[in-house]
Amino acid sequence: MSNSDVWMRDVITSYGLLSAVLVLVIILLLRKWSSLQKSIYKAYLTGFEVECAELSRAYKKQLFKPLEHVVSCDKVLQSMGCIRLLEIGVKTGENIQFYPENTRWIGVDRNVRLGEYLTTGHRFWPFSRVIIERVIVGDGSSLKEVPTACVDVVVTTRTLCSVTSIQSTLREIHRVLTPGGQYLFIEHIPENEGTFIRWIQKILSQTGIWPSLFGGCCLNINPIEDIKNTGFNHITWDTFTLGGDVSQPFHLILSKQHILGMAVR
Ligand SMILES: C[S@@+](CC[C@H](N)C(=O)[O-])C[C@H]1O[C@@H](n2cnc3c(N)ncnc32)[C@H](O)[C@@H]1O
Repeated sequence: MSNSDVWMRDVITSYGLLSAVLVLVIILLLRKWSSLQKSIYKAYLTGFEVECAELSRAYKKQLFKPLEHVVSCDKVLQSMGCIRLLEIGVKTGENIQFYPENTRWIGVDRNVRLGEYLTTGHRFWPFSRVIIERVIVGDGSSLKEVPTACVDVVVTTRTLCSVTSIQSTLREIHRVLTPGGQYLFIEHIPENEGTFIRWIQKILSQTGIWPSLFGGCCLNINPIEDIKNTGFNHITWDTFTLGGDVSQPFHLILSKQHILGMAVR
């Protein structure tokens, strides 16, 4: 065998083996991809998002303070001093502690395990604080089961980033709210244009890597223009940067800028 033949044989055996191993790893990853995605998303929701909700406490107190003064459009609820509140993106109910007691609550989440959270009673069960009027396991952009103008308050926190359509979701929020009803929101927004983090946010979102791992979450969306274009009468909002210790600092770095506000129908 000539020197070049030996060289060719070596290349084929080493690279051939490497390629075969690579193809095998890719096949294995693809086969496990769906369960891998589910585990990553679950760990994110029950880990980072819970820490994030904890860090947001002061901002949520500020956001939900006006609830004390809301008077229901429903005469019966009004006579009982209650309000009707619809929340999209409930997760495990972290926001419920901020609602007035006996709030008539409509929960919407596309997570099929929502029903399970609602029926799993334990010492810190948040749902016992409110009166559960309806639970909708589905997409917040289509609230067919909720009549027009029957809700006093709608809430979304860190949810618009992952809905199927922000415009349709906002249209539904506007539709179900009673005239004078309030839409309260805290949503994460991108960093300023031209920064390194903004560049990373764009790459991770546009390539679909981030949404595919974290339940459709897009890091490069600011919903404020859509909120303004939905036809609310009055909108107030502010921005804040979330900071503190979390188990996944990269996650906070990528979603630390927020808007907090209220839109009145
Ligand atoms: C990041 S978590 C935020 C949970 C909670 N609002 C908080 O601040 O702690 C987003 C939640 O929105 C839900 N979600 C995402 N897209 C949705 C959609 N299109 N319709 C209804 N729920 C949705 C997810 O299942 C998840 O529970």
